[in-house]
Amino acid sequence: MSINFKELANKYETPYYVYDFDYITSKYNELKGAFKARKSLVAYAVKANSNLSVIKHLASLGAGADCVSIGEVKRALKVGIAPYKIIFSGVGKIDSEIKEALTLGILMINVESDAELNRVEQIAKELDVVARISVRVNPNIDPQTHPYISTGLHENKFGVDIDTAKRMYIQCKNSQHLEPTGVHLHIGSQLTELQPIKESVKIVADLVKNLAAIKIELSFFDVGGGLGIVYDDEKLIDTNEYAQSILECLFGLDITVICEPGRFLVGNSGVFVTKVLYEKVNGNKRFVIVDGAMNDLLRPSLYNAYHKVEVLNDNQEFSECNLVGPVCESGDFFAKDVKLPKTQHNDLVAIYSAGAYCFTMASNYNTRGKVAEIAYENNKHRLIRKRESFEDIIALEEEYIK
Ligand code: LLP
Repeated sequence: MSINFKELANKYETPYYVYDFDYITSKYNELKGAFKARKSLVAYAVKANSNLSVIKHLASLGAGADCVSIGEVKRALKVGIAPYKIIFSGVGKIDSEIKEALTLGILMINVESDAELNRVEQIAKELDVVARISVRVNPNIDPQTHPYISTGLHENKFGVDIDTAKRMYIQCKNSQHLEPTGVHLHIGSQLTELQPIKESVKIVADLVKNLAAIKIELSFFDVGGGLGIVYDDEKLIDTNEYAQSILECLFGLDITVICEPGRFLVGNSGVFVTKVLYEKVNGNKRFVIVDGAMNDLLRPSLYNAYHKVEVLNDNQEFSECNLVGPVCESGDFFAKDVKLPKTQHNDLVAIYSAGAYCFTMASNYNTRGKVAEIAYENNKHRLIRKRESFEDIIALEEEYIK
C-alpha cells in the first residue's frame, strides 16, 4: 500500500479510516479463484465493513452479501446486489425483518432454531409466499479461536444440532410455505486452523447426504466465513487448501458452495490514522495520547486484540509507552507497553488491519462523531463517508427537548 497518509490527513483531517479497494479486489479474486472448480458464491459478510461504497465495490466484482439484519440486507440491495445473492442470518430475527426479507425475495433465510422456523412459516403463510430456508448447523467443533468470536460449539448460542436440523428440514419439506434450499455453518472468526473447518464441513456434508436419501435435495452449501488474517505474525490457512478441503468433503454432491468472508476480504485493506495530541509521564509510565479512541476502534479494548501501530515520524528515540485515546475509560487504548519513538504534537499514527470490525463497531460514546472514511483506488482517494458533526450526533434528540 503506497498511501500518503499525510496528504489524506491534510485533506480530510484526522482521525480517518482509509481502505485500499485494489487490495479488496485481489482478496476477492484469490478466494473466488480457489473455488473455480465448482459453482460458487462469495457472499461478503457485510457486518465486517458496511460502508456502501465498500459493498458496491465487492458487488461490482460479483459478490453476494451475507447479512445479519434487515438494515444490512437493504444496504446490499441499495448498491445493486441482486436479491438472489443475498442471505439473511442471525439468531434473533424480528418478525418485521422476516416479513421484509420474504417480501424482498432474497436467496434464503438462514434459520437458527426450530422456534424461528415456526415464525418464518407463520409469516410466509400470512404473506402467502414460500420461504427459502437454510438451517444453520452447529457442528460442536472447537474452532480454536478467541472465545468471543467462536461460534461452532454447542455452548455457543448459534445454530442447531444435527438432529434438530434434520427435523427442521422435514418440517420444511412438509410445509406449503417453506422450501428447504440450503445448509449453513460458521464455526468462528479469525480462524487459523484448517482442521476444525474440515471436520465441521464433513459433519454437515454427511447431513446433506442423509437428507438426499430421504428426498430432501439442497441447492446451496454455505461454509460460513472465518478465514483469519495477519494482524501480527499469525500463520494463515492457505486459501487454495481451504477451498480444496471443502470441495473434497462435497464430492458427489451437486451443490453450489457459498462462503461468507468478511475479515479476509477487507481486514487488511484498512488503516486507521490518528494524530498525536500530547505525551505525558505518570510516575514511570509514558503515555502517547492521540485524537482517535476506543469509540472509533474498539477491538483492543473489547478483545485485547493486537493491531500493529506505527508513528509516522523519523525519530529514532524509542521507548515503551501506552498508546491511548481521549475517552474517559482506562480501557481506552490501542496498544499497551509498545515501543514507539518520541512524538510531537500532530505526528500521525497508523493503526493497521483496521478494515474489518472497526468502523462498524464504532459508537458516539463521549459525544464523539464517527470519523471520515476514505477509499483509495488506482492511486486516487475519495471520501466515502463524511465525518459526523455535532449536529449529526444530536439530530434525533433535538426536537424532543422540552
Ligand atoms: N458468517 C457468519 C454467520 C458470521 O457470524 C460471521 C462473523 C461471518 C460470516 C464473517 O466472519 P469473518 O469472515 O469476518 O471472520 N467483531 C469481531 C468479529 C465478529 C464476527 C462475527 N461473525 C472481531 O472484531 O473480531
